[in-house]
Amino acid sequence: MTRARAVLPSPPMSGPEIKINIGCGLSGIPGWHNLDNSPTILLSRIPIVKSLLKTPAWPSDVRRCDVRKGLPFSESAVRYIYSSHAFEHFTWPESRAIARDCLRVLQPGGVLRVVVPELELIVREYLADPNPYAAHTFLSRLSLHRSLQDYVHPGSNHSQMFDARALVQLLREAEFADVEVSRYRVSAIPEIDQIELEVRRNESLYVEARK
Ligand SMILES: C[S@@+](CC[C@H](N)C(=O)[O-])C[C@H]1O[C@@H](n2cnc3c(N)ncnc32)[C@H](O)[C@@H]1O
Repeated sequence: MTRARAVLPSPPMSGPEIKINIGCGLSGIPGWHNLDNSPTILLSRIPIVKSLLKTPAWPSDVRRCDVRKGLPFSESAVRYIYSSHAFEHFTWPESRAIARDCLRVLQPGGVLRVVVPELELIVREYLADPNPYAAHTFLSRLSLHRSLQDYVHPGSNHSQMFDARALVQLLREAEFADVEVSRYRVSAIPEIDQIELEVRRNESLYVEARK
């Protein structure tokens, strides 16, 4: 997932092609506004702290941003928004507010693509698992517990899980007009092959919406 990248010029803050990746982790791509809230982003930029704490190798173009506080873009400024395995880290009201904020910053016709772990798949695998500890595996895969980590990094664990109905409903409640369940790398986003992670393919639900 980690990609070594040279320092690149910042993507434009205005113009027809502003693209945002919400909760990018280590897998943002150049030319996008790669936003993530991990406290290790700033720590990794202090060499001594980086080597002492062995922080992840955050690419230099990842910007620390808590998207629950609002997307730092003006109304109708953005063409594409991508988010992979981040919305389950927000509560339902937070995720609805973020989706509404996505609608605010998107241009008419702009695209929001949300990828999350697929709850239905995890439930099916649990039901088919003959192991006596299947319930333990199931609960640990949901990752809905709270830990000390949540105080250091709010959003470390999951706050909710989605099936297709819930994710479609979320985006409809946010007043997206056109919301559809999609498939791996089938998207109106031209750079989808670069941004969508293969490693997530067999565990993910893909939903795409247009303003
Ligand atoms: C499971 S990782 C997903 C990373 C990457 N998108 C992927 O699919 O592998 C979830 C990411 O969401 C980020 N995140 C959690 N809460 C956030 C918030 N409030 N604002 C921005 N990013 C957040 C976390 O720091 C983490 O990097």
